[in-house]
Order: sequence, then structure tokens, then C-alpha cells
Amino acid sequence: MKKVILGLSVAAGLSLSAFANTGGPAWDKAPGHITDQTSLQNGARTFTTYCLNCHGAAYMRYNRLRDIGFTLDQIKNELVKTDAKVGDTMTSAISASEGKAWFGNNPPDLSVIARSRAGANGTGADYLYTYLRGFYRDSASPTGWNNIVFPNVGMPHVFWELQGSRKAVYEEEEVGGQKVHVFKGFEQLTPGTMTTEQYDQTVGDLVNYLQWMGEPVQTTRRNLGIWVLIFLAGFTFVTWRLNKAFWKDIK
Ligand code: HEC
Repeated sequence: MKKVILGLSVAAGLSLSAFANTGGPAWDKAPGHITDQTSLQNGARTFTTYCLNCHGAAYMRYNRLRDIGFTLDQIKNELVKTDAKVGDTMTSAISASEGKAWFGNNPPDLSVIARSRAGANGTGADYLYTYLRGFYRDSASPTGWNNIVFPNVGMPHVFWELQGSRKAVYEEEEVGGQKVHVFKGFEQLTPGTMTTEQYDQTVGDLVNYLQWMGEPVQTTRRNLGIWVLIFLAGFTFVTWRLNKAFWKDIK
């Protein structure tokens, strides 16, 4: 009997700690089409239009966007929204101290954000995909917005016109004798200019871009990897044929 109780409490403890580890709602899977140039270009346009108002990307130069198929003219005329030159790094329109004063927290540099947010719930890209689709109306917050994966976030919902405004539905549940608020889903309050599919696609493209920006060489590396594999396969074949040819007369 003692053993059974021990077993049960260990099991309960394990499932509780598993629950505690994940913390917060599950993250949705980001599309991850990091080699899709059209998607990367869409993402870059969204990024330079919406995000550089508050965030910078200090490790990224505008002219690097040639790597995803933009021409220098396109970069200069369509993507640089400030008085920056195409050879400059992507700096934010506001300073760190302004950010802190206006939003309570400094908007972090986004150069490598997709690599720094991986967790028990998924990859950094999954986090970003969920975060950027996770804003909801909250009259108690200074900006009027809150976020399901970043409670009391200082960032406003910059895409609210596209997504419309939504309310988050939380239910109180008892887990291991403790009352917790469990996220159940969203309720649309006012419509946005985009359908849910269009919005998810826009955010998906943006997240692809953020992922690419975190490691622009990764596409090059992957392409190179494919050639290395093809070479190795060819080389193995030649070696195998040679081996056969050498031993043919000896057997
Ligand atoms: C109006 C200013 C503003 C704009 C525009 C803005 N952000 Fe933010 N963002 C913030 C602030 C402020 C924070 C810090 C929030 C905090 O720590 O509470 C933040 C935080 C973040 C974070 C960090 C979340 C975390 O887990 O630490 C990410 C990611 C992010 N923003 C992405 C974006 C993206 C992508 C865009 C463009 C679509 C964008 N932001 C546009 C102000 C802004």
C-alpha cells in the first residue's frame, strides 16, 4: 500500500513539474519557410514598416537585404523609411531612453531575437509566431493591450488594424489543489482588415524574416550542405565502382 501511495505521489509530482515547466499556453508552430524568398521579402517589408519604429536590428545592414533578392534601388526606395543610407545598420526611430519612458520597458534589439527565445514550449520562431498573434484587449494595461505569452507586455499591438481587436478567454481551473487561469481561446471583438488566414500568413512571413535575420548565412550554409552531400554521394559511388574494378581479377 505504501508503495502505491509513493508511486502515485511521484507520478503526481512529475506531472505537476511537467506542467510547471511549460508555463503558459502552448506555442503555435511557426511555418519556418526560411528559404522561401517571396515570404522573406514580405517579412522584410513588414519589418521595416512596422518594427523599426521602436526596435533596432544593430547587426543587420540594409544592403544585406540583397541576399533575399532585393535590388539596391528597391532597398533605397521601398525599405529604408528613415534618413539612413543603404550601407547603414537598421537603427530604431526612437532612442532606448524614449522607449523606456513611453512603454515602461526598452524595446529590445531584434537582430537575433529568433535565436534567443527558444524554450520548453518550442523554438524561438514558434514563440514569435505565437507572441505576434497573441495580443488581446485589456483595459487594465497602460497600452490597452496584453499578450497571452507575455503577460503585461509593454509593447502595444502594432498590427491591431490588420487583426482587429480580440478578447482572451481564461478559465479558472484547479491544478494540484491550486487555482490557475488557463487560456481557452480568443473572441473577436471588432474585425480587422485581414482575415485570420491572411494575418497568420503576414506574421508567418515576418517570423521567417526574423529567423533569417538571426542568421543570414544559414540559407547559404544549407545550400552548400546540399552540394556537399551530392558530392559525397557521387564520391561514394565512384569509390564503390573503383573498388569493384580493382578486385575483379583477384577473386
Ligand atoms: C510602439 C513601439 C513598438 C513597436 C512599433 C514594436 N514594438 Fe516590439 N516591443 C516594444 C516594447 C516597448 C517592448 C518591450 C516590452 C516589455 O519588455 O514589456 C517590445 C518587445 C518586443 C519583443 C520581445 C518580447 C520578449 O519576449 O521579450 C519582440 C519579439 C518584439 N517586441 C517584436 C516586435 C516586432 C516583430 C515588431 C514589428 C511588427 C514590433 N515589436 C514593433 C515596442 C514596440
